[in-house]
Amino acid sequence: MVNKITVVGAGNVGATAAQRLAEKELARTVVLVDVVEGIPQGKGLDQWQSAPIEGFDSRLIGTNGYEETAGSDIVVITAGIARKPGMSRDDLLNTNAGIVKQVSEQIKKTSPNAIIIMVSNPLDVMSWVAKQVTGFPRERVLGMAGVLDTARYRAFLAEAMDVSTRDIQAMVLGGHGDTMVPLVSYTSVSGIPVRQLLAADKLKAIVERTRGGGAEIVGLLKTGSAYYAPSAAAVQMCEAIVLDQKRILPCAAWLEGEYGMSGLFLGVPCKLGRKGLEQIIEVELTPDEKAALEKSAEAVREPMGAIKL
Ligand code: NAI
Ligand code: 2OP
Repeated sequence: MVNKITVVGAGNVGATAAQRLAEKELARTVVLVDVVEGIPQGKGLDQWQSAPIEGFDSRLIGTNGYEETAGSDIVVITAGIARKPGMSRDDLLNTNAGIVKQVSEQIKKTSPNAIIIMVSNPLDVMSWVAKQVTGFPRERVLGMAGVLDTARYRAFLAEAMDVSTRDIQAMVLGGHGDTMVPLVSYTSVSGIPVRQLLAADKLKAIVERTRGGGAEIVGLLKTGSAYYAPSAAAVQMCEAIVLDQKRILPCAAWLEGEYGMSGLFLGVPCKLGRKGLEQIIEVELTPDEKAALEKSAEAVREPMGAIKL
């Protein structure tokens, strides 16, 4: 375990992530931060009181300031507003950019050695805001989206084939939006290429459903967006870092020439260990996948241009 993990934003994703972090005992202290008075304190206290039942020793605390977060090893940023029906992720752009800027300034001051895991949307752009504002190296700023999008893809595939989700290996790359790129050519079931097991039309429908996975949940919930799978995804990234697992997970990372692109965050296969981003893995893509990844990069670059930091 590490000494301290801070989760900024004590809403649906943040509070659920804090509980999962504590239950996995990934940090001695898990700090929940929010601007709303009483909410992080109340949720933190409630969660801490689940420790004797669940049997964990991580301490949970809530606060409206950053003093208690000082010296965090990892900071998960979920602060912002969530999508409502009819809203795209980019509708959130300017409000969340202001929030993420303010949060990043605080982290830079109080936890200058932290690894940041961005969750707030639009994800790829908010990761860039955090990197710009903190000046942290790319090893210490990562965005969570690919783990979630891949989990949705794997869940849909498992359901369609009536197999365990555990046996499905897959990777969804690109930006966290409608242009994301599920890599069908690298999808397998215990090593068996998925195209041998599932008809092309079914696969195509699953790829489309994955692309709309976030919107499907927003449409059902009506008052907010997904949080159980998103919090699990962010915590899986924390776990890979805390336990130095060297896991290869799709994460939004700052590109410096990889996949022929630079100067943006995009979902690519990343090796995660105690230093954060330890390597970006470059895999061969089919011409269609390459074109789709470039299109997805354009969808990330466009809103970046609209933000003034
Ligand atoms: P939520 O509305 O339940 O929680 C957001 C929390 O942020 C609220 O409690 C709010 O008071 C707090 N907040 C606002 N300004 C703040 C500030 N300056 N400092 C600290 N806290 C602040 O929303 P939810 O569902 O937890 O989603 C959070 C964010 O994560 C949204 O932007 C959402 O779109 C995004 N998201 C991203 C996913 C991804 O795959 N990257 C998946 C799911 C959600
Ligand atoms: C999701 O994919 C809204 O980005 C969020 O569920």
